[in-house]
Amino acid sequence: MYYIIDSANTDEIRRCAEFYPLDGVTTNPTIISREHNGDFVTLIKTIREIIGPDRMFHIQTTASTAEGIVKEAHALREVVGGDFYIKIPVSPEGLKATMRLKKEGIKVTVTAIFTQQQALIAACAGADFVAPYVNRLDNIVSDGVLVVSEIVELFKKHNINSKVLAASFKSVEQVHKTVMSGAQAITLAPKLFENLIYHPLTLNAISDFNRDWESVYGDRDILGLINGEQ
Ligand code: E4P
Repeated sequence: MYYIIDSANTDEIRRCAEFYPLDGVTTNPTIISREHNGDFVTLIKTIREIIGPDRMFHIQTTASTAEGIVKEAHALREVVGGDFYIKIPVSPEGLKATMRLKKEGIKVTVTAIFTQQQALIAACAGADFVAPYVNRLDNIVSDGVLVVSEIVELFKKHNINSKVLAASFKSVEQVHKTVMSGAQAITLAPKLFENLIYHPLTLNAISDFNRDWESVYGDRDILGLINGEQ
């Protein structure tokens, strides 16, 4: 299971990398445009510095032709290095670029996937990951989790090695059902990522543990007691 955050906010990325088992970062042009200062190159270099070379960094192309996408993939890989994936929206030009890049050994995530057949053809073109958009499907009264689970099933039936990187989540329930369906990776906003561990009963339990300890030991902690503090 890979946990990835969908963000270009360096504070959020730093926090998630420090506190959680984070496997990488995904961005798209919308996410990048929210970090207003306009210095794209500094931003992606900073993100790489924060996450280090071993975590995945998926950066989306803005080019619309295969040739443009391939050139952007080369340039982005040069700038950020490490475990880099070019994110390419599914389209004829995108698939052509995917096949070319795979021949060169550049890793590809085919994104903006809304149907099972888009995912299958992207996988056959060589995508390492395909990224179906769960919440955006739910928003059009489709069924995001069903689409993901059928992609997972199709890949199993046809012995396809591409992985499913499910994206576009708005609730913990969507995340839960998606990972139950067998998706190997999820990318989600940092706030929702942190919500995966939130439960009021957990907070109550911690507060009760603290209260009961203090009722006997006051403000002394375990280390103090081991070191002979009275
Ligand atoms: C994933 O690749 C996309 O960047 C993202 O998950 C889309 O999410 P949204 O529907 O919340 O914009």
